[in-house]
Amino acid sequence: MRVPFYDIKAQYDELAAPLDKVVHEVISSGVYALGPHHNALEREIAELHGCKHGIALNSGTDALRIMMDAQGIGPGDEVITTAFTFVASTETIVQTGATPVFVDVDPSTFMIDTSLIDAAVTERTKAILPIHLFGQLCDVRGVTAAAERNSLVVLEDAAQAIGCTYEGTPSGNFGVAAGFSFYVTKNLGAAGDAGMIVTNDDEYAARARAIRIHGMGRERYYYDYVGYTSRMDEIQAAVLRVKLQRMAAWNERRAEIAAIYLDRLSGLDLPLPSIQPGNNHTWHQFAVTTPRRNELMPFLRERQVDSMIYYPVPLHFHAPYARFGGGEGSLPETERISREVLNLPIHPHLTDEQVEHVARSVVDFFA
Ligand SMILES: Cc1ncc(COP(=O)(O)O)c(C=O)c1O
Repeated sequence: MRVPFYDIKAQYDELAAPLDKVVHEVISSGVYALGPHHNALEREIAELHGCKHGIALNSGTDALRIMMDAQGIGPGDEVITTAFTFVASTETIVQTGATPVFVDVDPSTFMIDTSLIDAAVTERTKAILPIHLFGQLCDVRGVTAAAERNSLVVLEDAAQAIGCTYEGTPSGNFGVAAGFSFYVTKNLGAAGDAGMIVTNDDEYAARARAIRIHGMGRERYYYDYVGYTSRMDEIQAAVLRVKLQRMAAWNERRAEIAAIYLDRLSGLDLPLPSIQPGNNHTWHQFAVTTPRRNELMPFLRERQVDSMIYYPVPLHFHAPYARFGGGEGSLPETERISREVLNLPIHPHLTDEQVEHVARSVVDFFA
């Protein structure tokens, strides 16, 4: 039985009629940018996260970059973040001319170990950029307390955290802003690249809105900031609005699959993901760690089970970012998790039979 890691086509099949309809409507309307779907999606995502503003963009990476530009992060500044993640957070910090300062992750969450933040703060530190990984939020209380103690702003990388809350409060309300990715494989995925910033700050929102379109603020062809071309296409907004209707049901299915894995794998010598206190988990990923990862992955492949390694190499080991890290051994948990992590398929279109096959295959490996 083949178990694919993602099945984007199944999402389309489920929603083919409304997706075809809305895409045709947009193409035939001739309105391809900053149109009604774009504006409605901004409102809907902002509302979902209890925020005043949504600024739709062409990727999650641009969301992070524009979040930093709108905050005025630049050369000479330091931003505290983590190295066990996708490259976009560190990449965009470096693009602004600022310096990423890596702290290690908490082994129980793979996210920022907030007990290490104070020691990483210098007089140049401007912001903390926590990354909410795999479908739940980081230790938000720890991050906001450290930010307050040290007078820092918080910019959340919420690329994987659409719909995630901490003690009932959604991402986007813990600092200045949060940035989402709607890349195709996310819990809410476009038919290509798309992203969004949410914020409660009117002036910050106005700056971000201007920066996404060449810094054009008050008036057309008058430039207040250095900006980009980063509008979300109307077609992507329309597709996302259709899929948003299904997101809660898809997330419920992800939770059912997670519950099956947690039950079937509970007797093994295998640390399993846990829901952190106060969090709702949207199960973007289901990550396990084992020193035998490099044997487990091919074993699963033989059983036709696809798995993925998110993330195989910590950011401070990559050539462009090595100068910001302390070399091998400097982030022991980050480095160990990168060696041991394996992500099992958890997309909502898996059948129970497929999920049981994955679980049985993992159990057989350890037997
Ligand atoms: C944690 C994290 N940050 C940032 C990004 C960047 O988002 P995008 O691929 O939409 O540019 C991603 C998505 O791939 C991500 O997973």
